[in-house]
Amino acid sequence: MESYLIEGGHKLSGEVSITGAKNAVLGIIAAACLSDEVSTIENVPHIQDVYKFIEIIKRIGAKVQFNNNVLRIDPKGINQTDCSDQAYNFNKLRASYYLLGTFLGRFNGGKVPRPGGCAIGDRKINLHLDGFRQLGAKVDDNVMITVKSSGLKGGDILLEFPSVGATINLMIAASLAKGVTHISNAAKEPHIVDVANFLNRMGAKIRGAGTEDITITGVDKLHGTEYSVIPDQIETGTYMIAAAATESDIVIKNTIPIHMKSLIDVFKQMGIPVETNEDEIYVMAKRPFKAVQVSTAPYPGFPTDLQQPLAVLMILADGQSRIKENIFESRLGYLNELKKIGAKAKIYDDKKTATIDGVNELNGDEVELITPDLRAGAALVIAALVSDGTTRIKDIHYIDRGYEDFEEKLNKLGAKVARLDDEVV
Ligand code: EPZ
Repeated sequence: MESYLIEGGHKLSGEVSITGAKNAVLGIIAAACLSDEVSTIENVPHIQDVYKFIEIIKRIGAKVQFNNNVLRIDPKGINQTDCSDQAYNFNKLRASYYLLGTFLGRFNGGKVPRPGGCAIGDRKINLHLDGFRQLGAKVDDNVMITVKSSGLKGGDILLEFPSVGATINLMIAASLAKGVTHISNAAKEPHIVDVANFLNRMGAKIRGAGTEDITITGVDKLHGTEYSVIPDQIETGTYMIAAAATESDIVIKNTIPIHMKSLIDVFKQMGIPVETNEDEIYVMAKRPFKAVQVSTAPYPGFPTDLQQPLAVLMILADGQSRIKENIFESRLGYLNELKKIGAKAKIYDDKKTATIDGVNELNGDEVELITPDLRAGAALVIAALVSDGTTRIKDIHYIDRGYEDFEEKLNKLGAKVARLDDEVV
């Protein structure tokens, strides 16, 4: 296992470039496998979730090349739709369940182990499976999930919650169904639009992605295509928060500022000025920060994936801030790790509400923090950057799932982050 050793107290400066959106790429990989023709996807981040998904599709027959952020997928050779022998891989990657949509769309069925993913809540998949049923599939939901159909038929699906995963999975499956599918109360995140744009480049007929009503008119076949993934909204927000926490001047390049509106609004409430142009964001933060109340919500609301990093700014603010986590059942536990370096936080019994009282400084010297999940890991790193002394952060494999070259990018900005092999030290 590996850890970070982070020497705090260094201001950052310079520029950082954002890579492609993890949560778009994972849907795009499954979508590319709907065709038997080659797709070439640019701006793909070199992160563990992508490598894991590549491993899964290679095991079922796809040919894949992945160099310098360019992913070439040749899905012609996919000849296995029973992934029972890949439980280890599926357990490591929640997005692996997108293959259910692929298998239904292209092969009229398949079998996959239950998906894993960050331990931030129940992570149910009932909305995916009910949606498949409404397209005419038979679904057997046990240790393995088996889906079968004699050819999907378009249908009207109302999602009781605007689930990102269910919206993507159902767009994938419905693209090759006979007839028209309507998804109501669909998720509207930027990565939903990106997956829909990719599918349309393959010849799909999807309208309304980015709104709560998506219409998919099934087609007989999809062809390969070329595509470039949008910049990652959550990576962008992570560096914005790191810049603010360290009161640094950083230019964040290759972004889509409009995707960051909810975070920019929170920065304004905290007294943190932000300047943007067409693809750059410039954060100029000087404490004191004003305390703030944030409730997470589906896009365009405040993203649950930035709640954890944002908590570090609340810790550094004057007064009491409040977080209400409305998307996942237990995504506040990381605050107990931050208390080890001086944060003052209270998690309420509902495990979805917390108050944070600002402190003047944090001290991580000789302290060991344990990473509970991907975005909490980013929060711990940002807290260590502004702590006195040298903080150790363990289990950083969670961070490697979603941030490309995290320590390299931070060190290029002037941070002091070392990656250590726990077995060696
Ligand atoms: C995606 O997860 C992202 N992961 C998550 O990012 C992100 O936090 C989440 O969307 C919300 O934006 C990927 O895209 C791979 P949901 P997903 O379906 O699809 C409940 C990260 O850090 N629900 O919108 O799992 C579910 O339990 C990760 O990059 C059901 O009840 O999110 C949760 O409470 C973490 N039944 C809520 O909906 C279902 O069938 C939101 O889930 C599906 C979901």
